[in-house]
Amino acid sequence: MSVRAISSPNIALVKYWGNRHTALRLPAADSLSITLSTPTVTLTVDHADSLKIRSYTMGEERPVTGKHLERFAAHIAHAKTYLATLGIPDAVPSSLSIDIDSHIPPSVGLASSAAVFSCLAQAIRQLIAPSIALTDAQTSVIARLGSGSACRSVMGGFVAMEAGNGDAIDAAFARQIADAEHWMLYDFVIIPTHEEKKVGSTEGHAEAQSSPLFAERVTAIHTRRQQECINAIMHKDFEKLRAVSEEDMWDMHRVMQSQSHPLNYLSDETHRIVRELEALRTAQHMPVLYTMDAGPTVHAICTEEAVPLVQEFAEAQQECTLFLAHAGSGSRPA
Ligand code: PMV
Repeated sequence: MSVRAISSPNIALVKYWGNRHTALRLPAADSLSITLSTPTVTLTVDHADSLKIRSYTMGEERPVTGKHLERFAAHIAHAKTYLATLGIPDAVPSSLSIDIDSHIPPSVGLASSAAVFSCLAQAIRQLIAPSIALTDAQTSVIARLGSGSACRSVMGGFVAMEAGNGDAIDAAFARQIADAEHWMLYDFVIIPTHEEKKVGSTEGHAEAQSSPLFAERVTAIHTRRQQECINAIMHKDFEKLRAVSEEDMWDMHRVMQSQSHPLNYLSDETHRIVRELEALRTAQHMPVLYTMDAGPTVHAICTEEAVPLVQEFAEAQQECTLFLAHAGSGSRPA
C-alpha cells in the first residue's frame, strides 16, 4: 500500500555548513531554522522491485539519473542501517518507488533537498508504522541522512539541529524550539535567477574544513550564536534575531569563499537587493532581516507589522521571482 507525505523547505538563521562525518552528514555545529509554509513537495512512496523515481517540478518531468539517483539509493541504504540500530533492519525494502511532485524552483537557494528528504523520511515513517512508531527526533535522523538541513523540516516552527558528539548515526537530530504560532514571521523569498548552481551544497560541505575561518565559526556557534538565536526567538526579540542571524550568515559565506575551491553563491543582484533593503529598513525603522543560503536568493524575513512595506519592496524587484511564505508546520502525512 502506498503512502503520501508533504513537506516544505526551511530557512536557516544559524547556518549548517560543514560536517564532522561526511557520509553520515553529521554536522560540525548546531544550526537553527524556521520551517516554511510554502512551497511544498508531495511524495508518494511504495514498495518496488528496483528503485524507481519519477520527479515533477512545477508540473514538468525532470529525470532523476546519475548522482541524483545514487543519492536516493545511498539515503535508503543509510536509513536501513539506522533502522537496524532500532532492531528493524528489514522494515524498509531495499527498493522503493518514489513519485515526487515539487512546487519548488530547482537550485535557486531554496532548499528543495530539505523538503524532499524530510518528506521521504516522513513517508518512510508511515511505511514502517506497522513495525515501529518513530518519534519526530528519530524521523529527523532519517531526513538528515539524505540532506543535513532536511532534519529541521521534519518539525514545524523554529527548529534546532543539535550536532551532538561522536560518530553514532543518530548523534545529531532536530528539536523544536517553538511552534509557528509562537511568533508568526514572514519570509519574502526573492529569487534573482533561475540558473542552476554549479557546485551543490553536498560537495561544498565536504571542503568547509579547508577554510581558515571554519574552526572559529564552529566555536562561535557552540559558545554563543545558537543560544543567542534561541533566546531571541523565545523572547520574540527581533533586533537580537536580526543581529545574530546576519552575523552568522555573512560568516558562513566568508567560510564558503575561503575554501580550497572557493564558493561564491551570491551574485551582484543579491548584493544590490541587500543594499537596498538595508537602506529601506534604516529609513523606515522596519523589523526585517535578510539571509542567503547556497544560492543568490534573498530571504527577507519580517514580523507581521513590516509585511506591507517588505511586500512593496519585494514586488518592486522586477526581474525576480517572488514567493511569500510564513512559519509553517513541517513534514506530515498528505
Ligand atoms: O542540507 P544541505 O546539505 O543542502 O545543506 C544546506 C546548507 C545551507 O542551506 C547553506 C544552510 C542551512 O543551514 O540550511
